[in-house]
Amino acid sequence: MCGIIGYIGNKPAAPILVNGLKKLEYRGYDSSGIAVLENGKIDCIKSVGKIEQLKKKVDGRKKPPAGTLGIGHTRWATHGVPSDVNSHPHISRDGRFAIVHNGIIENFAELKTSLQKDGFVFKSETDSEAVAHMLQKLYDGDILSTLRRLIKTLVGSYAIGIVFSDAPDTMYAIRKDNPLIVGLGDGENFIASDVTAALDHTHEFVLLENYETAEITRDGVNYYDIDGNPLEKLPYRVNWDAAQAEKEGYPHFMLKEIYAQPKAITDTLRPRIKSGEVVLGELILDKKYVDGLEKIDIVGCGSAYHAGIVGKTFIEKHCRIRVTCELASEYIYGDPITDEKTLTIIISQSGETADTLNALRIAKARGSHTVAIVNVVESSIAREAHDVLYTYAGPEIAVATTKGYTTQVAALYLLGLHIAKIKGTVTDGRYTELVNGLLGLADGISSMLRNTDAIKDFAERYKNRRNVFFIGRGTDYAASLEGALKLKEISYIHAEAYASGELKHGTISLITKSTVTIALVTQRALYHKMESNIKAVKSRKGPVLAVASPANAAIADCADSLLTIPECDDDISPVLTAVVLQLFAYYVADARGCDIDKPRHLAKSVTVE
Ligand code: F6R
Repeated sequence: MCGIIGYIGNKPAAPILVNGLKKLEYRGYDSSGIAVLENGKIDCIKSVGKIEQLKKKVDGRKKPPAGTLGIGHTRWATHGVPSDVNSHPHISRDGRFAIVHNGIIENFAELKTSLQKDGFVFKSETDSEAVAHMLQKLYDGDILSTLRRLIKTLVGSYAIGIVFSDAPDTMYAIRKDNPLIVGLGDGENFIASDVTAALDHTHEFVLLENYETAEITRDGVNYYDIDGNPLEKLPYRVNWDAAQAEKEGYPHFMLKEIYAQPKAITDTLRPRIKSGEVVLGELILDKKYVDGLEKIDIVGCGSAYHAGIVGKTFIEKHCRIRVTCELASEYIYGDPITDEKTLTIIISQSGETADTLNALRIAKARGSHTVAIVNVVESSIAREAHDVLYTYAGPEIAVATTKGYTTQVAALYLLGLHIAKIKGTVTDGRYTELVNGLLGLADGISSMLRNTDAIKDFAERYKNRRNVFFIGRGTDYAASLEGALKLKEISYIHAEAYASGELKHGTISLITKSTVTIALVTQRALYHKMESNIKAVKSRKGPVLAVASPANAAIADCADSLLTIPECDDDISPVLTAVVLQLFAYYVADARGCDIDKPRHLAKSVTVE
């Protein structure tokens, strides 16, 4: 893991590769490198740390590499510590093959032992280095047949870009279970692990499928299947522009993306609400199918899982059907009970998360109909699910998701209303209230974003606390899970979400004057219950910030501070509370000087289990 860029054209490759790697920084990485082919020799430059350090090494060369073919990589350590030597590209012993690799070679130990027996010496601790040496070992004078045999030898997941010194006019790529795309330019072509790396140069892409090979020259690309048969592949167009992947004056991508939420929510909701009705033309969920459903399983990881918990609460309430929400990493090894009477909703911003993709495959194999809620068009999950409900959030660059999450929640509300209407479990009046509530969300977010001083002040006051609890009931509890994750991942403060009523069963013993509690109080029906929970925290001297709806603003009497969200239907308040909690996490992390867009140890797209 983590990011790949490759270039073949008529310009010097090195600056294009370094620039492409910068665009991939958001995925998280600990080291980077490039390999450029020049005069029949592969020149490899690598550096641990930021891309800037790599750039310095490249620019610092007396004669910077001028070759017009090369590959680059950002690495996020899985096998072996972050170091120059462990970073990619890796070079074969004879120096003729350079490779970059995303994924994990599961039979690495076996391959290494056999290569060592043949006299290959490993310089790094990585699994990827074995690929470079295997290429040398398998090479039979025909690179395409060598690649076919390589694919048959490798076990695991991989997206691999290859430069071969005997082929100065060709770059090669293979993939299995890890995304790799070919970008089509004019007199130049690219490979990349995601479109953002090449958007400065092209909007036309071709997705490489499992076990396929791409043979890329300056003027064209040939594709082959595992048996060497040529393939016709159609390009698709990506309308995101390069500027959307820039900060546009915001100090961090995360803040830019928080502020992009009114548009992202509008783009996700508006095209699907027509004359007051939710219309999900992209789904095949007819009445016969919905009436036969026995349960719904929602599956995702991290924030996508949290969006799922919000969705579970909403769908159960309005559709009167049993909903489970499961962590994908648990689902896949839990022998899930699912069949054609279960609808599986798979949630993933990137559409490439390995655990979630595996969960989708298991659900499908057991007969369940799958609907994916995904942001990245043509991602693996989008392509493999039966139906896709795209969130139109646009590119999300900050590692911590914001607009990705709120648009997932919005998509779940749409899906819930769609099913409730088919089942007849919601009255016309309530349905209209909820649809109108959804249509008002973007304005609600915009009005919160116009004045964030109170959140900033609160963040400043409590930025050095070591423990923060997020509490709430019902949908507020679901929302608090995401609030706690946001705070811990970017500010490194320990945070925990708790169902308010559960505090008294043990955890309240942790409340002291130095813990901070953020209480979500947006549910009118639960006001008095929350009031007693807050009083219980206050009587242990813990400071409390209440985040409440206008109807519940009287909670200020028992809390230390109050933030009110704009007026909104109680059932869809998590979209608004999420924005408050995102800003709180952001300002705390900023005040603590954290690397907000690229928190330590985290990657944007987790394509390994
Ligand atoms: C947290 C965060 C992660 C992701 C998780 C799933 O801010 O971004 O928890 O939500 O890794 O990623 P996707 O949605 O791409 O499957």
